[in-house]
Amino acid sequence: MVVVDGEPLGMQDLVATDFCDFGSVTTFSWLDRDARGRGLGKEMRQAVLHLAFDGFGARAATSGAFVDNHASNRVSEALGYQRNGSDWATRRGEAAELQRWRLTRERWSERRREDIDLVGVAECRPVLGLAAPDDH
Ligand SMILES: CC(C)(COP(=O)(O)OP(=O)(O)OC[C@H]1O[C@@H](n2cnc3c(N)ncnc32)[C@H](O)[C@@H]1OP(=O)(O)O)[C@@H](O)C(=O)NCCC(=O)NCCS
Repeated sequence: MVVVDGEPLGMQDLVATDFCDFGSVTTFSWLDRDARGRGLGKEMRQAVLHLAFDGFGARAATSGAFVDNHASNRVSEALGYQRNGSDWATRRGEAAELQRWRLTRERWSERRREDIDLVGVAECRPVLGLAAPDDH
């Protein structure tokens, strides 16, 4: 959940399939309409990337957005993701083109922030089927 000054304003999902085998995560972002366009989109993506790479040891993160979703595509581009092909999905019943993005661990490391605190990650790891930090 994205909370600003005690107010819930959005969601930042972090999803993975067979994470232990592939080390890849995907993110989905949503902000209340009134909260968009003031930098929160980048901020929340950086936070969840920190959790994925630093907290869970991810090797890559992917994202995708319809080609005309400039805010979402710009967040990915600004954070160092590279274009990773395109895809199709339905939007309001019509086929629409998706831009796919991929951020490697190396590129994230070059841009990583030092002002993000992770809390409770060690306790979460076994619940998610991940090895405890000492075994990792
Ligand atoms: C996608 C979303 C999370 C982005 O968050 P945001 O707070 O609006 O974005 P930010 O303010 O952090 O802006 C990020 C970048 O996009 C640019 N941007 C923001 N809105 C834009 C717009 N409407 N058109 C063009 N660029 C835009 C900003 O200038 C910034 O670029 P910069 O780094 O060059 O300055 C938000 O817009 C949203 O919730 N949209 C609806 C849900 C959605 O589409 N989710 C993505 C699909 S999973």
